[in-house]
Amino acid sequence: MSTKPLRVLVLSCSTRPGALGPAVARWVVDAVDAHAAELGVEVVTVPLGELNLPFLDEEEHPSSGVYRHEHTRRWSAMVEAADGFIAVTPEYNYGMPATLKNALDYLSAEWAWKPIGFVSYGNTSAGTRSVQHAKQVVTTLRLVPLGATVAIRIGDSVQQGRLRPDATRDAAAVALLDELVRVAHCLRPMRVRAQAGTLPGPLPGSYLRRLTPHDAPEVTVLQRCCWVEEAVANDSLDIPPLHESPEEVREWLADWQTSGLWLDGRLLGMVRTRLVGTDLHLGRLAVVPDLRGRGLGRWLLRTGELAAGQDSRRVLLFTGAKSQHNIDFYQREGYRTVPADGPDGTISLAKDLIPA
Ligand SMILES: Cc1cc2nc3c(=O)[nH]c(=O)nc-3n(C[C@H](O)[C@H](O)[C@H](O)COP(=O)(O)O)c2cc1C
Repeated sequence: MSTKPLRVLVLSCSTRPGALGPAVARWVVDAVDAHAAELGVEVVTVPLGELNLPFLDEEEHPSSGVYRHEHTRRWSAMVEAADGFIAVTPEYNYGMPATLKNALDYLSAEWAWKPIGFVSYGNTSAGTRSVQHAKQVVTTLRLVPLGATVAIRIGDSVQQGRLRPDATRDAAAVALLDELVRVAHCLRPMRVRAQAGTLPGPLPGSYLRRLTPHDAPEVTVLQRCCWVEEAVANDSLDIPPLHESPEEVREWLADWQTSGLWLDGRLLGMVRTRLVGTDLHLGRLAVVPDLRGRGLGRWLLRTGELAAGQDSRRVLLFTGAKSQHNIDFYQREGYRTVPADGPDGTISLAKDLIPA
C-alpha cells in the first residue's frame, strides 16, 4: 500500500444566500481536524457554489473524459486528486440539492472507487431522504457510499444559524472520517488498476505500475525478504537491498524507473532500470518468496528490458558471484558474463540488443 497521504474533499452543497450549509461544513472540518492530523489526511472544503459550474454544458458524455470547458477541467482535476468525499447536504423536497446532482453528473471516471460519506441536515427527517436519494445516484458512478453517517435535525441542533456544541455529534463525524479513510485505503488498488500507464500483470487481477518515492516502505520490505537467499549463497550481509532504510529507498526510487507488480494492494515484485550512455542498467529484480517458480521474474525482467530506447546497445546487470540460481536464470534469458562492472563480490552480465 502506498503511503501517499489521503486527500478528502468536504463538498459543501448548498448555495442559497444565508444557507445553513457553510456552518455545517465548518463544524465538520473542525470536528474531524485532530483525527485527520493523526491519520495524515488532508481535509479540504469545496463550496460547490464557488466552482461556478453551470447546469451541465458539456457536449460529450463524461465517460469520454473530453471536456471543452475550463470549469469542467478544473473540477475534474480536483476530484481526480481526491481519495474520498464528505458531502454536507441539505434535503430539498425529499431529495438531494440540484447542486450536488449537477456536480456529480459533470464527471465520471474521476469518482470511481472512492468512498463518499454524508453529513445531512433538515427538518423532521434530518436530511436522511436526501442521502438515500444521493446514494442510489453515486453508486452508478462507482462511488462507494459509507454506512457511517451524520444526520442533523435542525430543530434540535441549530441556534441562531449556528450548530450547538454536541460531543456525540462530534464523535459521529470522527467515526465517519475513520470509516472513510479505511475504505479509501481498501479501494486504492481498485483505482490504480484503472489508471493510465498501468498494465495488466501475468497473474489474474495483478497489474504493473511505476513505483514512486511514496512506495518506499513496501519496497523496503520486499527487498528485506527477497535478498536473504543472496546473503546465504554469497556468505555476506554486505548486500544493500538487505539494509537500505526507507529513506535510502525513497531516494533511489526518485532516480530510477522502477516498475512494481501488484495484486490486491500487495507488492509482488519489481525491477528497476536506468539508461547510462548506451547501456540500460537493470537491477533489483525481485519476486516475493511465496510466488517464485511461476514465471514472474522472467516477466518482470522482460518488462524491464522494454525500457531500452533506440540508442541502447545492451542491457547490463550484476548479481552475486555465487548466486548460481540467478546466473543460470540470466543465461537462459540470453545474458553472458562480461568484465566486472558492479560492486565487489558480484559478476556482471549483459545482453546485446538487436538494433531495430
Ligand atoms: C427548496 C427547499 C426545499 C426543502 N425541502 C425540505 C425537505 O424536503 N425536507 C426537510 O426536512 N427540509 C426541507 N427544507 C428545509 C431545509 O432543510 C432547511 O431550510 C435547510 O436550512 C436547508 O439547507 P440550506 O440552508 O443549507 O440551504 C427545504 C428547504 C428548501 C429551501
